[in-house]
Amino acid sequence: MSHFTHHHGQLHAEGAALAAIAQQYGTPTYVYSKAALLGNFDAYADACAGREALVCYAMKANSNLAILDLLARRGAGFDIVSGGELLRVVAAGGDPRKVIFSGVGKSEAEMRLALSHDILCFNVESIPELHRLNRVAGEMGITAPVSLRVNPNVDAKTHPYIATGLKANKFGVAFDDALATYRAAAALPHLRLEGIDCHIGSQLLDDAPLLEALDKLIELIDTLGAEGIVLRHLDIGGGIGINYGEAGEAPPVAVGDYLGRLFARIDAWRAASHAGAPIKVVFEPGRSIVGDTGVLLTRVEYLKPGAEKNFCVVDAAMNDLMRPALYQAWMDVQPVRPRAGAALVYDVVGPVCESGDWLARGRALAVQEGDLLAVMAAGAYGLTMSSNYNTRGRAAEVIVDGAAVHLVRQREQPADLFALESLIK
Ligand code: LLP
Repeated sequence: MSHFTHHHGQLHAEGAALAAIAQQYGTPTYVYSKAALLGNFDAYADACAGREALVCYAMKANSNLAILDLLARRGAGFDIVSGGELLRVVAAGGDPRKVIFSGVGKSEAEMRLALSHDILCFNVESIPELHRLNRVAGEMGITAPVSLRVNPNVDAKTHPYIATGLKANKFGVAFDDALATYRAAAALPHLRLEGIDCHIGSQLLDDAPLLEALDKLIELIDTLGAEGIVLRHLDIGGGIGINYGEAGEAPPVAVGDYLGRLFARIDAWRAASHAGAPIKVVFEPGRSIVGDTGVLLTRVEYLKPGAEKNFCVVDAAMNDLMRPALYQAWMDVQPVRPRAGAALVYDVVGPVCESGDWLARGRALAVQEGDLLAVMAAGAYGLTMSSNYNTRGRAAEVIVDGAAVHLVRQREQPADLFALESLIK
C-alpha cells in the first residue's frame, strides 16, 4: 500500500498535502511517511518473529536521527560504515550493542570508538584489517567480536556500481581464501570469531542470488565447524530492491517471501547437520526499509524550450539527489497537482552547472512555472548522498505522521556552508 496518493486533486503524504508542506517549509524538501517506514520495517520483523534474528538497518540509505529513533524503538539494530554513523546511532538513542560495523577502510580511531561502545560485531574485510583490530583491542585490554565478510562470487545481476559480491569488487575476502583467513583470525588473541557475513549488491529484484550466497556461507560454516571454529551468527547483508515505477520494470521479491525461503533453507540445514548449533541470522537492509517511504518535493523554476529538447528546470538538483546523475537511475516524477491540458516531453533538470545534472529524462508532463513536482521513491540514498556543490544548502527533511508534519532537518543556509572555512591570517 502506498502512503503517497492523490486525493482531492493533489498528492498527499499520508494525510498531509504536499503543497501545504512546500508552502510551510519551502523546496526542495524530502518528505517521508512514518507509516510507510514502520510498515517496511515490520515486514522484516514479522518474518523474523520467534526466531533468533536481528535486522540491522543499513543507515547509509538514510541516517536522519528521527528515522533512526523510530526504527530503534521498533527494535532495529544498525549496520554502520563509519564512526560518524555510530555517533548518529548513539545520538538517536539506538543501542550500540545492536550495531555491526561494515566497510573496507575502518580507521584505528573508528575501531577504538566502536570497541568503547561495545558494538555487536565488526564485519572484517581483509587480513590487514584483522591485524589492526587485534592490535587495537589488545591495547584496550579487550577482545573484538568479528565476522568475516566473505565474497561469495555470485552475480547479483544489478547495476555494476552497486554489485559488490563479484571477484572483481573491492569488498570482502575471496571465497577461496576464506578458510585460511578464518584460521589466521582464530590465531589472533584479541579477536573473538562470532560469525560470517556477505553483502552481494543492492537493488536486487530476485532473491535467487541471495539464496545462492546463503548456500555458500552455510557450506563454509560447516567446514569451519569441522575444524572447531564455531560461528554463532550469519549475516546475509541487505540488497532487496524496491519498485521505482519504470514502465516494464520487474517487481522486486516481497520481503516476507524472501525471508520465508531463507529461513526454510536454514531450518533444513540445521535439521540435517546442525541441530544443536543455534545460529543468529542478521540482515542489513537499507533501501527496502526507506526507499519508498520518501519523495523529493521540488518546484518548477522555468520551462525552457530547447532546440532538440524541452527542459523543465526545477529547484532540486544533482546535489540533492545524485542517483540519476551517478547511475542513470530512473526515478518517477509526479505532478503534485495534476493539470488538465496537453503534456509536453521534458528533461527535468536542476540549476547546477553540469550537463549531468538531471533528475529525469523524456517525461511527458503538463506543467507550468511554479508547479510542484515530487520525485517518487527517493527515501533511500537521497539526502545521505547529497552534497553542497555550487554552494547549495542541503534540502530540509520532514516526516509525516497522519496529518501531522514534523520538521526533522532544517534546510542548510549559505552561512552554514562556509562556517568552517577561514581566510589565511
Ligand atoms: N550492507 C552493506 C555492507 C552495504 O554496503 C549496503 C549498501 C547495504 C548493506 C544496504 O544495501 P541495500 O539494502 O540498501 O541494497 N547508492 C546506491 C546504493 C549503494 C549501496 C551501498 N551498499 C543507490 O543509490 O542505488
